[in-house]
Amino acid sequence: MRMAQLSVAITRVESMLLTLIRRYSKPYMSYILAVLVFQLASTIAALYLPSLNAQIIDQGVARGDTDFIWQTGAVMLLVAFVQVAAAIAGVYFGSRTAMAVGRDLRRAVFGKVTSFSAKDVNAFGAPTLITRGTNDVQQVQMLLLMGLNFMVATPIMCVGGIIMALREDLNLSWLVWVSVPLLAVVVGYLVVRLMPLFRTMQRKIDRINAVLREQIIGIRVVRAFVREPYETERFGGANKELTDVSLRIGALFVLMFPAISMILHLSTAAVLWFGGQRVDAGAMQVGSLTAFLQYLLQILMAVMMGTFMAMMIPRASVCADRIGEVLDVEPSIHDPLSPEAPASLAGVVEYRDVTFAYPGAESPVLSNISFTARPGQTIAIIGSTGAGKTSLLSLLPRLYDPVAGQVLLDGVPVDRLDRAEITRRVALVPQRPYLFSGTIEHNLRFGKTEATDQELWDALRVAQGESFVREKKNGLDARISQGGTNVSGGQRQRLCIARALVTKPRVYLFDDSFSALDVATDARLRAALKETTKDATVIIVAQRISTITEADQILVLDNGRIVDRGSHEELLETSPTYQEIVESQLSVEEVA
Ligand code: CTP
Ligand code: MG
Repeated sequence: MRMAQLSVAITRVESMLLTLIRRYSKPYMSYILAVLVFQLASTIAALYLPSLNAQIIDQGVARGDTDFIWQTGAVMLLVAFVQVAAAIAGVYFGSRTAMAVGRDLRRAVFGKVTSFSAKDVNAFGAPTLITRGTNDVQQVQMLLLMGLNFMVATPIMCVGGIIMALREDLNLSWLVWVSVPLLAVVVGYLVVRLMPLFRTMQRKIDRINAVLREQIIGIRVVRAFVREPYETERFGGANKELTDVSLRIGALFVLMFPAISMILHLSTAAVLWFGGQRVDAGAMQVGSLTAFLQYLLQILMAVMMGTFMAMMIPRASVCADRIGEVLDVEPSIHDPLSPEAPASLAGVVEYRDVTFAYPGAESPVLSNISFTARPGQTIAIIGSTGAGKTSLLSLLPRLYDPVAGQVLLDGVPVDRLDRAEITRRVALVPQRPYLFSGTIEHNLRFGKTEATDQELWDALRVAQGESFVREKKNGLDARISQGGTNVSGGQRQRLCIARALVTKPRVYLFDDSFSALDVATDARLRAALKETTKDATVIIVAQRISTITEADQILVLDNGRIVDRGSHEELLETSPTYQEIVESQLSVEEVA
């Protein structure tokens, strides 16, 4: 079974880890070459030292030849200096390479994830994407670092050490043949035991990440429902699982060092015992014995380092697989190869018999949606919660693609347009207003970095956000925390509206963007918007009837279908669904 595990591990290594390392270390070939040269120099120097030492003892000390001791001592000093200098240089270039590859990998993962559509992100889940871009990359980077530092040194040290040891004394050679395989078997056994644990460990880290993330984001809800004990327990569970795996790994590691040092010390004792007898019998010189011992220790060190590295391979290869999974994803929504340019920049939106289902869902959430919205018009969409209003809007900026039918912008299907082209024309104010950490100014410039301060203030004025921004001590420079949690829900909504206004789009999509505003602010905002958006196409999703009474056309959405359409007055006459909604909100007379 152990062999099977080993071979599985090796084939896995061959798949992703090698591919990633090969692909991402290519730009640093000159560095890697430097590592090779310096390590070669350092290893040869290290192998030369014990034999020089032996010469000093056998030819210098034993015969009392002080000149020889001085001369050989000077050579030793020089060789030692070369060894240290080369080792430092090797580590320097090795580290640079490993860190650079790590950086490039992280960048690649990040770049890939930003190209993901909403569907692709959901397929993985945010926590594991974060672990893959950070911890997993770090594991590969660590392996590369170790690999570069020991890659050349280990085999040369092994083979060279054996040759040099045998040159010192052939009769003691059996010690090498016993101790080296013994060490390899012991360390190898522990490594094989460790492999599956490392795989589990990466999964547990994912889990911790997921629980922690959910709790931090949902902290208000946790507090509001006094769920701290439950959440603490949930985190405790995940934490304990990670601890357990780490402990089992630790237990094996704890065995590793005593086992290794026992083999090292037993070997030393054996060399001294059997070597001492040979020295006694006059068959071997003391210097040779010392050199032999040093070579044996060097060999065992090399074997140990080699196995340590081998131990990192399984974990890194698990990580490489996980990174590869992310990098291999073809984003499900991408720009067309040869995008079309629409003839006009008018902002005509047309939905043509559109049907849409969420990936993996059985039934569509939108069926046979058809309507046209022209510049200067306001189209309102109303319907009960879950009717599909947000889904409908998300098809225009291509957050999702419809499964049948077409969404057209200025007469061109949106999947034949460059997405940058679409976002230049279409501004979406999402239902869940989201702001980025930074300043108010930085958030407002999100869609148009070159906007002037005047444009920002104009947009704020229309969005009814001017006064509260002016009240802030730093005005436009006031800080916004991640997600915009340090402003109120209504303020966040107004900032998101202002952000859309700054881009001066041809098409506005407001997804329930006035829900957090009080009735008076809502009315003022709509009056100001009317002026600003009078030449643009406006599609409004709203809950409050009062928000949409003046719309040119109202689409009544129910269960993903447009059940009625018309102006407010027409619908009051003809649409039972609309009447129901109106009645539930206000008395009919008041609205009419
Ligand atoms: N839905 C889904 N997967 C998503 C989002 C929504 O399966 N990622 C489903 C929901 O279960 C819902 C339907 O799609 O039944 C329509 O959702 P949505 O368009 O968001 O409904 P809205 O009309 O926008 O509802 P609300 O008024 O609550 O915003
Ligand atoms: Mg919605």
